[in-house]
Amino acid sequence: MTTTAINRPPGGRYALGHTPDEYERLRAQARMWDAATGRLLDQIGLGPGASCLDAGCGPGETMRAMAERVGSAGRVLGIDADAALGGMALEMLHGDGYRHCAFHAQDLTAGEPIPGAPYDLVYARLLLFHLPQRVDVLARLWEAVAPGGHLLVQDFDLRGTSSLPQLDSVADGLRLVTGAFGAASADVSAGARLPQLFAQAGVGTPDGTDVAGHLM
Ligand SMILES: C[S@@+](CC[C@H](N)C(=O)[O-])C[C@H]1O[C@@H](n2cnc3c(N)ncnc32)[C@H](O)[C@@H]1O
Repeated sequence: MTTTAINRPPGGRYALGHTPDEYERLRAQARMWDAATGRLLDQIGLGPGASCLDAGCGPGETMRAMAERVGSAGRVLGIDADAALGGMALEMLHGDGYRHCAFHAQDLTAGEPIPGAPYDLVYARLLLFHLPQRVDVLARLWEAVAPGGHLLVQDFDLRGTSSLPQLDSVADGLRLVTGAFGAASADVSAGARLPQLFAQAGVGTPDGTDVAGHLM
């Protein structure tokens, strides 16, 4: 398959690249996570008027889920290092009537202040996995949470991935993928490590854990 690089975002070391194929994969992956993420947003009681930050928002599908819940009295900001992807996300959201969404291009590892803080909800899905600076970024995200607000993080633990029936091709593919991610300083067990990362970032013990199995 041929892919075309369409932009090189600031701090663009995202291992999976910035191509139309990757953007489409992210959208498909987001659809698979939709129910699990929606369940968590409802569990924390996200409702009308709340302010939300989606850190590493990618294609903006979680921004949509937030925007539906907070309504026009609320606000949703997506931050991503990939300005082109964020721009497309915002165009789609505004086109669907979610004018209370905004996007800001920012490399979250650069140590710059998070605009618009504090937020009732700061959320990051499949972001920390990719970042060698995941503890620092998590600490900064925590600083952006309003008193009484929530920090909600979803991430992968790829170590338990397998297939039934067991197939050598799947096992080989997984070895390749986890090896490539490891070489790019990603942490394939970031999801399982979230409580540890929370402690290291000074956030404290998470209130709860939800486990779902979606891989795309
Ligand atoms: C696997 S995608 C997840 C996207 C979205 N959170 C979702 O679940 O649909 C990871 C996203 O993090 C963004 N990203 C990677 N490194 C980043 C950084 N240093 N600062 C901001 N965003 C970053 C990528 O551009 C990409 O959109």
